[in-house]
Amino acid sequence: MSDKMMLRALRGEAVWPPPLWLMRQAGRYLPEFRALRAQADFITRCMTPDIATEITLQPIRRFGMDGAILFSDILILPWAMGQSLDFVEQVGPVLTPIRSREDLNRLQPERVPEATAPVMETLRRLRKTLPAATTLIGFAGSPFTVACYMVEGGGSKEFAETRRMAYANPDLFGALTDLLVDSTARMLSEQIENGAEAVMLFDSWSGLLPPHQFQRWVIEPTRRIVESIRAFHADVPLIGFPRLAGTMLGHYVDRTAVNGVGLDTSVDLGVASGLVRPQVALQGNLDPLALLAGGRSLVEEARAVRDALRGRAHIFNLGHGVLPQTPPEHVAELVATVRQV
Ligand code: CP3
Repeated sequence: MSDKMMLRALRGEAVWPPPLWLMRQAGRYLPEFRALRAQADFITRCMTPDIATEITLQPIRRFGMDGAILFSDILILPWAMGQSLDFVEQVGPVLTPIRSREDLNRLQPERVPEATAPVMETLRRLRKTLPAATTLIGFAGSPFTVACYMVEGGGSKEFAETRRMAYANPDLFGALTDLLVDSTARMLSEQIENGAEAVMLFDSWSGLLPPHQFQRWVIEPTRRIVESIRAFHADVPLIGFPRLAGTMLGHYVDRTAVNGVGLDTSVDLGVASGLVRPQVALQGNLDPLALLAGGRSLVEEARAVRDALRGRAHIFNLGHGVLPQTPPEHVAELVATVRQV
């Protein structure tokens, strides 16, 4: 069994000081990322193993995090099924919305393995290149969050069209969810077969749903994905990130049987400790704004997060992604603070 710190924490061990990585640790806050950004558009960067490998490694070289997350995006899956996708400057992702059975039937899930072959190549290269102590993390979006972008046709604050469809046409929304459950489980299994040592499911918009809808569209699909991956890869840990799940957190962890759970910035760590079984690692949850601000409060907030979970399985992270305006020196300061005991 691997003794990498992050994998030990995901087996339920209270590692001290906690292993650390950051959501969006590869990104616009790094000058070396911005330099590569000029060379190719976002999808090309994800689909070119040379570039995606380099971008994944950039924060590891600088800061030596315990986890390296594959450079890709949750919207690569709908793109690989043939939904048109564009990342527009100042706007974000733009997709042709899925609103009917005909739109859904036009998707080609059978194309995913071929379309994502470069991502698998990137994982194989990363496993060869990463330092021996670093855990390689694969990922996907959860069906609900990916469906939000697919139905809405892009980003939104409310994803009202998606939530309306879930109530008004649960057969159609259920068919889209089923398609995403199968293709996500397949793609994550393939990521594992190509070198991912842990996988994470990002559910950025799960907190928009009331409890019964959360049960149906977040917990059930996630449970099915975990079950399907585990049937073939029993020893590979899965991390769920049901952002803004609120009081549904404990239920989510118990029903889905994830090995770790990402906590957003709103979660009180003492309360989360009580809701989540001690065998399940908690991941989080420093405010990205504290990292951006730096200084005394960064050190204090980082210590508070770390020390609150002393004695239980914890992977230090932010409550959401690194913001583009974050000075890289603040990240160095954070890593030093978490590791200083
Ligand atoms: O964390 C990492 O460093 C790994 C790579 C990663 C990206 N996106 C790269 C990316 C991961 C894990 C994601 C997940 C993702 N993508 C989520 C879930 C997490 C979250 O933030 O809630 C979501 C909702 C998306 C969809 C997405 N991708 C949006 C809304 C945008 C545009 C907004 C933005 O931040 O620019 C993206 C683009 C994107 N994905 C960028 C990166 C580095 C920026 C592209 C660029 O400007 O070069």
